[in-house]
Amino acid sequence: MPSIKINKLVSIESNPSNTILETMEQAGLLPEYNCRDGHCGACRCKLESGDVEYVGFAMAYTQPDEILPCICKAKSEISLKWCELRDERKTRINATSQYKKPKAIALAFYYLFLLSTFTI
Ligand code: FES
Repeated sequence: MPSIKINKLVSIESNPSNTILETMEQAGLLPEYNCRDGHCGACRCKLESGDVEYVGFAMAYTQPDEILPCICKAKSEISLKWCELRDERKTRINATSQYKKPKAIALAFYYLFLLSTFTI
C-alpha cells in the first residue's frame, strides 16, 4: 500500500478502497472538510509529489498543484502539504507536554528535599 505523507509530519498507509480524506480520518487525524463531495474546497491540500486518482467531480476551484482529498485516492506514494488538520490529539499532546516540565521540575525538587532531610 502506498504511503501518504502529510505536512511533512505524519506518514500513513493509504487504503485503496477509501479516499485520502477517509484514510486520514481512519489514521486518527482530523482533516478539515465540509461537503465531502468536491464542492466546497475546505479539504484542499497541495500535492507535493505522487499521483492521485479522482473518484468524484471536483467543483471547487483548485490550483494545478492542489487536490481535494475528499474525492481523491492515492495512486502512488504521495506527499501533501498545507493540509488543514484539526489535530486535537496534537493539541492535547502539546498541552500535556507543557505541564510535564513543571511537574518534572517539582518532582526533582521534592526528591532533593527528601534526600537532604534524610542525609542530615
Ligand atoms: S470537503 Fe468539500 S471539497 Fe472536500
